[in-house]
Amino acid sequence: MNIYEEQYQLLKQNGAQAWAGEGYKRAHQQLGVILQELEQRNILPSPGASFLELGCGNGAMSSQYMAERGYEVSGVDISQTAIEWAKERFLTLGLKGIFIQGDVCNLQQFKADSYDVIFDGSCFHCLIGKQRELCLAEIRRLVKPEGIAVISTMTGKPKDPENLKDFDSDNYHLMRNGQPWRTLKPITLLEEEISVQGFSIIYTHLNHNPWWDHATICCKPN
Ligand SMILES: C[S@@+](CC[C@H](N)C(=O)[O-])C[C@H]1O[C@@H](n2cnc3c(N)ncnc32)[C@H](O)[C@@H]1O
Repeated sequence: MNIYEEQYQLLKQNGAQAWAGEGYKRAHQQLGVILQELEQRNILPSPGASFLELGCGNGAMSSQYMAERGYEVSGVDISQTAIEWAKERFLTLGLKGIFIQGDVCNLQQFKADSYDVIFDGSCFHCLIGKQRELCLAEIRRLVKPEGIAVISTMTGKPKDPENLKDFDSDNYHLMRNGQPWRTLKPITLLEEEISVQGFSIIYTHLNHNPWWDHATICCKPN
């Protein structure tokens, strides 16, 4: 079974609110601050615009935030349990959303030039090696010519000694059980990686945390 599917089955059984578990309230608050900033900077289009969250999980984070503000929300996640959970959650909250199980590296079921906003729900840092280029190519294909893509990702070196000892700084991989688990590149490399896939970076927000930093990189298709 896929590790994300396994994790969502556990989270649901344990009555968690979302992927972040006990950290949900803090994560949700932090996301709200960033999305408000993007609204204030006019980086996000007005409500009613189409919004796709990559790695939407159970929909409790940016999908819910944007649906509550009147955006036309869709979400994709690799875990079927997360997708069913997102559908249930939206039904209970009386919100509209379309949730589809799929891999962000191959989104053939989604039509080109369809979304005003594509928001990475902290999924990009879960991708390793070639997967990252495939995902960026899919974002480039799916975003409307005047649309915006937002990459929300772990960045820089882990700060606590436990994670630092599992960090492969040659490949920017945080390792778990001997396998690459997360990619944490420095900001400049992230921006370069995104730019070469046909985007112009218009704004980068950096959130400093005691464990690792988190970047929100906003870009327009060229
Ligand atoms: C850090 S979690 C964040 C989930 C959700 N956005 C949230 O904030 O609660 C990353 C999400 O990406 C999903 N994911 C990881 N790799 C994926 C892939 N290749 N395709 C689609 N979803 C993926 C995981 O299932 C997980 O829901």
